[in-house]
Amino acid sequence: MSRSRKPVMKCRHCSEPPVINMRQHKLALCGPHFVEWVRQQTERFIEKYRMFTRDERVLVAVSGGKDSLALWDILLALGYQADGLYIDLGIDGGLGYSSQSLACTQGFMAQHGGDLTLHVVSVADDYGATIPAAARVSQRGRGKPCSLCGLTKRHIMNRVARDYGYDVLATGHNLDDEVAVLFGNTMQWSVEYLARQGPVLPPSHPGLARKVKPLFRFYEREMAAYAIVRGIEYVYDECPHAAGASTIRYKELLNQLEADSPGIKLQFYLRFLQAREQHGLFEAVRQQVELFTCPSCGQPTTNDGECSTCRTWDRIRVRIAHSANHPAS
Ligand code: AMP
Ligand code: FES
Ligand code: ZN
Ligand code: ZN
Repeated sequence: MSRSRKPVMKCRHCSEPPVINMRQHKLALCGPHFVEWVRQQTERFIEKYRMFTRDERVLVAVSGGKDSLALWDILLALGYQADGLYIDLGIDGGLGYSSQSLACTQGFMAQHGGDLTLHVVSVADDYGATIPAAARVSQRGRGKPCSLCGLTKRHIMNRVARDYGYDVLATGHNLDDEVAVLFGNTMQWSVEYLARQGPVLPPSHPGLARKVKPLFRFYEREMAAYAIVRGIEYVYDECPHAAGASTIRYKELLNQLEADSPGIKLQFYLRFLQAREQHGLFEAVRQQVELFTCPSCGQPTTNDGECSTCRTWDRIRVRIAHSANHPAS
């Protein structure tokens, strides 16, 4: 009688047990070799997609989640000039979501010896209300704060990068994020978004920073593994307002496809980039967009007048002031 034993998996580079098995790369690695691999790959992507150089100043948008803290950690380890930007959205959700996120970001900085630079911007202080309070009176997003939140975050990221002279703004979007958005944009044939989605977005206006996503080729689980191996404490919870978002459903669907065909998510995304570049897909859409300068904030806008962020927040402040003066109405 023969008894077959399951082969014991080993790290590709040493005899230690692996912390992760990446089926799409047919690669299993132990903790130290995985950390080394992630950093080498990130550096390769930064160079391949011409994201930035060591002479340029990078502003990393850190949310307190695993991806953006991992990104900051990787860039620092690779010797890039990377400062952080944390945006306090004022979201509580019964868990103190925003304050927990800031605490994780500060914990990360303390772990790194505390001599890192972090810009903290409070939406309530700078715009007049927290995101949830503003969303309650805004007509944008039918009471859901996500659309107002995205708009405001982009506005703040552009502003801080411009005001402090950063060349590049880096976000922690991973492959799962990017593929879910690409899938949604394709389902809707949102050609304006399909024309612009990618790992590098050149500045659309003078004074704006280039936007880059150095982690766009890593799966979400790889970034979670990186953060855990590195001992980074991050916020595990999703934003309490994200429940029911279509990107979460798309992620589940795409994970089912990935389970049957390892690598399919990466292929979907890379082939999209390749097809767009080689065949000039959506080029006509890209050239149609005419941009003006918002007289209030100086950021680009498609309207000849105030940008949609300034207009939206003007209206929100008027409504908040009105309800403070007429509490019963
Ligand atoms: P999300 O849109 O929440 O999936 O986040 C995508 C990326 O945006 C993150 O990886 C961060 O780089 C950045 N980001 C999200 N929320 C914040 C925040 N509150 N402060 C600074 N950056 C953020
Ligand atoms: Fe902005 Fe959830 S509404 S992070
Ligand atoms: Zn190893
Ligand atoms: Zn504006």
